[in-house]
Amino acid sequence: MRADATRTQQTPRPASAPRPLDPCGIVIFGASGDLTTRMLMPALYDLAHTRHLPEKFYVVGSARRPLQAEQFCDQMRQAVSRHGRFRPHNEADWKDFGRRLQYFPLDAKSRPDYLRLRDRLQELDRQFGTPGNYLFYLAVPPSLYSPIVEHLGGAGLAVPGPRGQGWTRIIIEKPFGRDRESARRLNRQVRDVFQEEQVYRIDHYLGKQTVQNLAVLRFANGIFEPVWNRNFIDHVQITVAEEVGVGDRAGFYEQAGAARDMIQNHLLQLLSLVAMEPPSSFDAQQVRQEKLKVVQSIRPFPLDRWDQFAVRGQYGPGAIHNQKVPGYREEKGVAPGSATETFAAIRFEIDNWRWAGVPFYLRTGKRLPRKVSEIAIQFRDVPLQLFACTALQPCEPNLLRLRIQPNEGIGLRVITKDPGLEVIGRPVELDFAYGDELKAEAPTAYETLLLDSLEGDAMLFARGDWIERSWELLDPLLKVWAENPPKDFPNYSAGSWGPPRAEELLRRDARQWHLR
Ligand code: BG6
Repeated sequence: MRADATRTQQTPRPASAPRPLDPCGIVIFGASGDLTTRMLMPALYDLAHTRHLPEKFYVVGSARRPLQAEQFCDQMRQAVSRHGRFRPHNEADWKDFGRRLQYFPLDAKSRPDYLRLRDRLQELDRQFGTPGNYLFYLAVPPSLYSPIVEHLGGAGLAVPGPRGQGWTRIIIEKPFGRDRESARRLNRQVRDVFQEEQVYRIDHYLGKQTVQNLAVLRFANGIFEPVWNRNFIDHVQITVAEEVGVGDRAGFYEQAGAARDMIQNHLLQLLSLVAMEPPSSFDAQQVRQEKLKVVQSIRPFPLDRWDQFAVRGQYGPGAIHNQKVPGYREEKGVAPGSATETFAAIRFEIDNWRWAGVPFYLRTGKRLPRKVSEIAIQFRDVPLQLFACTALQPCEPNLLRLRIQPNEGIGLRVITKDPGLEVIGRPVELDFAYGDELKAEAPTAYETLLLDSLEGDAMLFARGDWIERSWELLDPLLKVWAENPPKDFPNYSAGSWGPPRAEELLRRDARQWHLR
């Protein structure tokens, strides 16, 4: 995320032009996978099309099966036509992009293959006039992270530039570990080979436009900071709801579940951004340090009363948009008696001066009524209500809604006078919709994050210590869940807002979910 950190109110400067990027080679491990086809290649093409990539670059797709470069290029062209922002793409541009696409068959666990890869990259550097700057992207199953990292190190590909110049960076996909211990182990293995500054642990939520806007909204507007604390905010709700079920990812999801798949990373990242202190400057070091302090301040679960703080659920059969859908246990690859949660709602408390006593309710689930991600900041009520309101439209406290997707935007609920002769209060929403402002489709999260990693800006990536702490917070709950298998699964119908106990979680505090 680019920002001019030196800009002050006294010395406004024109927006800075994008920095010229260093010529480089981008190597994607897992080139035959879904992520490459649906996200990475379209993002790279879009960046090339909008002239955001350096003049000199090449992309190597690598996977196990043998494939001719032309076949790979054809497949990627189809992927881009299907999933890219710019389609149908222009022939001349594709030609230029296509000629930079290479394929390299590699067995991720075979050491000699990496020595061949190193030689091939040196050839490509000569061919494309690049000086040995490499961005490696691990779009592979987590079991391959360690072998790839180790072998890149063994082949001398982790040290910046073959002649000691330039840079080498590595992007690692989620999940980063499945508990604190495994995340620690992986961090150690990665740091044995790479320096922390070379490592980019991706969380695609951080690349979403509206998530980045959260920082701008908080820190570029004077009106929010004075009220952004326990004196004015009653509680915060973060919902990431999905319509989709587990699809064809049961192999992965059965071992993960909603808390590991979504809460540990995406939702806790959102919480960190909402709750962090203003950084001393808007750069990777300062912002990530402030986010770490937030997770360090989260109160550990009271394990004797865990069911008052966390609710899990699994969808049974139901209907979404009037279409019947099967229950989780009927999905392909799911065990008939599976105890995996497809829904989780957790109440967090942050023990610091800003947030003491303000609950943060996080909720995510698959097969909920609609796809929607939203942060709702509920302010405290007025001390005394002077105006009558109607029962149909009660005068509820101010609510700031940050809509992450869809219909990206910001809404603020305020009470106004109902038009007419009587003085009756009525809630209205002041609304800003991103779509009204955008002239073209916004860049995808992967475009933003790929560009940032090419620029060497790690602000929107998770730091190793943040990841270890987020696991440390969740581990005890995951352990109690494992030790106490759910007796009521499936406990919500596909197409509903989750199990009734998720409503109780808030009702116990005399609150309710805004999205329901
Ligand atoms: C991924 C999870 O990280 O995020 C998926 O593994 C989930 O299970 C996806 O569907 C949601 O991302 P988005 O961008 O569609 O909200």
